[in-house]
This record gives sequence, structure tokens and C-alpha cells, in this order.
Amino acid sequence: MAHSPAERQAMQRALELARRGPRSRNPQVGALILSPDGDVLAEGWHRGAGTAHAEVDALSHLPEGAARGATAIVTLEPCNHTGRTGPCSEALIRAGVARVVYALDDPGETSGGGGDRLRAAGVDVEPGLLRDEARELIGPWITAMRLGRPHVTVKWAQSLDGRAAAADGSSQWITGPAARADVHARRAAADAIVVGTGTVLADDPALTARDGDALRAEQPVPVVIGARETPADAALRRHPHEPLFYDTHDLEFVLADLWDHGLHRVFVEGGPTLASAFIAAGCADTVLAYVAPVLLGGPRLALTDVGVPSIDAAIRLAVTDRIPLGDDTLYVCETPTEGAR
Ligand SMILES: NC(=O)c1ccc[n+]([C@@H]2O[C@H](COP(=O)([O-])OP(=O)(O)OC[C@H]3O[C@@H](n4cnc5c(N)ncnc54)[C@H](OP(=O)(O)O)[C@@H]3O)[C@@H](O)[C@H]2O)c1
Repeated sequence: MAHSPAERQAMQRALELARRGPRSRNPQVGALILSPDGDVLAEGWHRGAGTAHAEVDALSHLPEGAARGATAIVTLEPCNHTGRTGPCSEALIRAGVARVVYALDDPGETSGGGGDRLRAAGVDVEPGLLRDEARELIGPWITAMRLGRPHVTVKWAQSLDGRAAAADGSSQWITGPAARADVHARRAAADAIVVGTGTVLADDPALTARDGDALRAEQPVPVVIGARETPADAALRRHPHEPLFYDTHDLEFVLADLWDHGLHRVFVEGGPTLASAFIAAGCADTVLAYVAPVLLGGPRLALTDVGVPSIDAAIRLAVTDRIPLGDDTLYVCETPTEGAR
């Protein structure tokens, strides 16, 4: 059965509700309960680990029996595991819901399978409504679930001839204001922003997400990787969040620890050394390359060794977007790690 216009509109609303939830180790999920005529009976969203899942939250606003014959609209497949809150599929069956429409399959080994459980109980189940929009919201969470580590975006700005800095190491500003504004918006959508000690010592970055001069409401946690000491007066020490420092080059260890801190969207803005290390380790899922029509020449390439000895081993990226930003162009690419999804 096709989705009705009311269901489509409800899914859009469910995605809005999902965004109200915190970005943490749990996914952001929204849900609505619709009457058989398509009227909204209740809304809900997930407020973080240990609290009710979105569909259960929505059901909790209804009196006993009011959801009988209703349709549940959920941005993620209702879960099938008991966890801390009990399976949502069971709650929907108990409430007598007749139809469940969801956007994305739950890839979790224990949490997935809620759709089948609902079908087995005679509920009409329809997956895939606004899947792409939902993926944009919780795609990183899904990658994280699949890989058991945070989703990693590696970003750099480069000259047309592939340099990340001029010969003297200066790199601010290769790209123009539109590209820089885009970076700040994307930083705000990340949980952690990661640089190497080389960038801290060369640029003294604040690692905040700003809108013009103003700090944005959402700020990623600043993270520095490397053995060298960050100066006591470094700008990032004045960040609204306490920075995390890792005196190691073991990126898998760092990612596991960030995951344990509930940081599952990691934005790497370090220099060429760190960007290359993430790519070589197979720990980069999305690449953002901001390309400016300037020539710098010289030795400071945007990437160093990424473990490609010959052209046969080239890391082929899937370009998912190509966005003009003033005179610059942003390439949004998925790596083979991500493409394996
Ligand atoms: N164009 C851009 O987008 C952009 C962005 C940022 C920086 N930059 C420029 O890049 C230059 C700095 O480059 P960079 O490469 O030195 O910066 P970086 O990549 O931020 O830092 C490199 C340092 O990180 C540490 N590190 C942590 N994990 C590592 C690992 N797995 N493998 C190797 N090293 C690891 C090492 O320091 P320890 O010895 O302390 O362990 C290493 O020397 C500056 O000129 C800056 O302006 C450009």
C-alpha cells in the first residue's frame, strides 16, 4: 500500500520531533500516532538513553485503548529488544496499532527485527517513507552501530593544486567566507571536533562553531591528538566544552574512547598528517574537500601518505554532493568504508 499524504506529512513532523532529542549514544527518533482518518492523536520523541523511546513516549500521551486501529509513524524501525525500556514493537502490538510506517531499518543485531515482529502479530508494516531525510539525520548513528565506532568526517580546505597551506605553513584563509560559514554549520552538527597537535601549534584554532562572530547553540567537544603539549593559553582551552587530550597516535583507541563519551559524530579538521592517518587507517567515512581556485605550490600537500602505493590501490570515493560556495567548491564524498553500508 502506498503512503498517504497524511502519513508523509506526519513523517516530516516526526523528523522535526526527532531533532529535539539529544545527540548522544542513542539515535534521535520521533513518532506520531495517527487515527484511521489521518488525524494526529499524539506525538513523541526520544530524550536520550534510559528514557522512553519515541513511539512509547507518543503512546504514553493517550488513554488506554485510544491507539486501537491507529497508525504509528516512526523515523526508525521500532526496536525489538528489551534494553532499559522494553521492546517498542511489543508496546505497539499491545496498544492495538493496526499499521506502522517507518523511515529507516534498525541495523542493530539485538534491536533490529521489530518490523518482522509486528508483521507476525498481524500489523501492516511499511518501511522506507522519507528514508533519505531520516538517513541524513541518523546516518552517522547507523554507521556507528554498524562499525562499532563513531562516524568520522574528515574535512580539509585545499588550493586547486592540492595544497593545504602555503610554504611557510600559513593556511588561513585558503577558502572564502561562504565555505567557512558552511564549515561552521557542519561543525555544529558534530559531537566532537578533532585536530592534531600540529594544527594547534600552527594555527591556535578556537574549534568553536560560530555564526558570524556569535557562538552557535550547539558546540562540538574539542579534541586534540598527539604527544606535544597544548599551550596553557591556547584558544581551544577557552572553548565552552572541556577539551579532551589524547597523548597517542592510536586512532582506534581515540575513537573507542570518544564513543564511550557518547560522541558519535566526529569531525576531523586536523592538518594533512592527521587527515591522512584517519584515511590510511580506514577510519574516514565521509570526506569534505573545500577546493579554492588559488594556487599555492610548495611542499604542503593536503594529504600525505594514505597507504596508496600505486594507482590500482587508489581510494575511489563516491561523490554524493558538489556544492558551489562563492568561488569555492565543496566535494562531499563517501569513502569505501561508508559505501559498504
Ligand atoms: N587546509 C586545511 O584544511 C588545514 C587544516 C588544519 C591545518 N592546516 C595546516 O596544516 C599544518 C599543520 O599540519 P600537521 O599535519 O602538522 O597538523 P595535524 O595533522 O593537525 O597534526 C599532526 C600531528 O598530530 C599528531 N598525531 C596524532 N595522531 C597521529 C597519527 N595517527 N599519526 C601521525 N601523527 C599523529 C602528531 O603530533 P605529536 O608529535 O605531537 O604526537 C603529528 O605531528 C599547518 O600549516 C596548518 O595551518 C590546514
